[in-house]
Amino acid sequence: MVRTSYLGLFTYAAAALASELHPHAVRAAAATCTPTAGGSSNIDDTPAIVSAINACPSGTIVIPKGKTYYIGSQLQFTGCAGCTLQIDGTLQVTTNFTYWNGKGAIIMIKSIADATILSSTGGGVVDGAGQASWDYIVNNDTSYARPYLFQISGSTGVKMTNLTIRNAPSFHVVTNGNSKSIYYGNITLHSVSTSANVAHNTDGFDVGPASYVTLENLHVTNDDDCVVLKPGASYIAARDITCIGSHGLSVGSLGSGSGKNDTVTNSIFERAVMNGATKAAGIKIYPGGPSHGTGTVVNVTWKDVVCQSCDYAIQIQQCYGDTTSYCTEYPSTGHISGVLFQNFTGTTSGNYKNTIANVDCPGNGTCGVQISGLTAKSPSGGSTVLCANTPSNLGVTCTSGASG
Ligand SMILES: *[C@@H]1O[C@H](CO)[C@@H](O)[C@H](O)[C@H]1NC(C)=O
Ligand SMILES: *[C@@H]1O[C@H](CO)[C@@H](O)[C@H](O)[C@H]1NC(C)=O
Ligand SMILES: *[C@@H]1O[C@H](CO)[C@@H](O)[C@H](O)[C@H]1NC(C)=O
Ligand SMILES: *[C@@H]1O[C@H](CO)[C@@H](O)[C@H](O)[C@H]1NC(C)=O
Ligand SMILES: *[C@@H]1O[C@H](CO)[C@@H](O)[C@H](O)[C@H]1NC(C)=O
Ligand SMILES: *[C@@H]1O[C@H](CO)[C@@H](O)[C@H](O)[C@H]1NC(C)=O
Ligand SMILES: *[C@@H]1O[C@H](CO)[C@@H](O)[C@H](O)[C@H]1NC(C)=O
Ligand SMILES: *[C@@H]1O[C@H](CO)[C@@H](O)[C@H](O)[C@H]1NC(C)=O
Repeated sequence: MVRTSYLGLFTYAAAALASELHPHAVRAAAATCTPTAGGSSNIDDTPAIVSAINACPSGTIVIPKGKTYYIGSQLQFTGCAGCTLQIDGTLQVTTNFTYWNGKGAIIMIKSIADATILSSTGGGVVDGAGQASWDYIVNNDTSYARPYLFQISGSTGVKMTNLTIRNAPSFHVVTNGNSKSIYYGNITLHSVSTSANVAHNTDGFDVGPASYVTLENLHVTNDDDCVVLKPGASYIAARDITCIGSHGLSVGSLGSGSGKNDTVTNSIFERAVMNGATKAAGIKIYPGGPSHGTGTVVNVTWKDVVCQSCDYAIQIQQCYGDTTSYCTEYPSTGHISGVLFQNFTGTTSGNYKNTIANVDCPGNGTCGVQISGLTAKSPSGGSTVLCANTPSNLGVTCTSGASG
């Protein structure tokens, strides 16, 4: 059976014979809804996609290969209960700054249990039209509040696989609101500015507060953190990742707000190639004092990381986001324990000459960090590790003078 909705917003298909015998069961199992594309950037296709989700709440919503759908308003998944959004064509976000200003996220998956976003061909694309935003905030309106491309909030059982995600106005994929059991795999993410205005704040995957999140087989090209564990992240596993040009695999920033105790625990990053990153791996913590809070990092491992022309292989910052003089007066009260950096190979960029790591631990906190198998070298063969407030069993020979 194939029919078209009375508004013409989507077509619905299900096995005809079975549908007549057990209509509800079959719809749940096999229904397919294909939204009708308006075919022009002036026509917002979000309502048609939303109608399709409502008509196929546990079926498959198909964005066919070769077709472009324009996302001119926030796409919410409300009503999805085990739905699959199969993107074999392109979702193209519009550049209506009046509309998107302060909207938070373009694709919002909020309070959903079980949803899948995939491309069956591997050729599906979600394009956030970020270039216009990166230019607009420099040339036109510095206060423009750019939306994230995806936000998964307060949800469980969400999977995203086999997609290309590009040109987010700001962060690409945010997982927060205590989301749980989330999976990202086989994703190519690409945001590079073609103008003089850099693609600032184009974080790849921001995780936290959230738990039991797996990220694997990612290829990320961007201009901020590649994968970052934010306050409230726990049981996060990120593996088999290539990051080009990023700010690395990060924890933080932690302790920004006064009185806050931001915590990241029980997580692992493994098997990563970090090409051109400002740091391959690291932690960012604010100083203490009246303006900031504290950060707690427990049981986090980075292992088997290849540094290809990254500025630092490892960087810990206890003076993130404030001035040196403030940090001298109010050193960080952060607590770091059970943090391991293992098997870092490759070559740094030489940006910091012979220095390959800068480990500036909390001056008024703890530094339970151990480094092993750090064989990365600077282009001239240097292997200097700058340290401050580090323990004697750090695992590498320290040179004093860490900062940051
Ligand atoms: C842009 O968004 C504004 C505010 O939502 C809306 O009034 C306007 O129609 C939109 N423009 C286009 C071209 O969609
Ligand atoms: C992902 O794409 C590949 C083709 O690149 C395809 O073989 C595979 O079935 C797709 N996976 C899913 C879950 O659709
Ligand atoms: C942004 O500013 C530039 C330069 O003043 C102008 O040419 C352009 O039209 C503006 N763009 C928008 C979207 O307002
Ligand atoms: C990931 O991509 C590979 C190669 O295209 C494919 O074989 C595999 O099925 C994909 N995995 C998922 C979860 O789609
Ligand atoms: C911060 O939170 C962690 C985890 O809940 C806790 O163990 C630690 O004692 C807290 N630190 C402070 C200073 O409150
Ligand atoms: C440390 O974190 C890893 C990675 O998530 C986890 O497998 C392990 O159980 C954690 N250890 C403890 C003692 O919680
Ligand atoms: C260190 O990491 C490299 C690159 O990921 C890997 O090939 C190698 O097997 C690892 N070495 C050990 C001892 O695990
Ligand atoms: C160190 O931190 C404690 C709170 O944990 C605070 O009372 C003390 O003033 C701090 N010392 C410095 C030098 O900032």
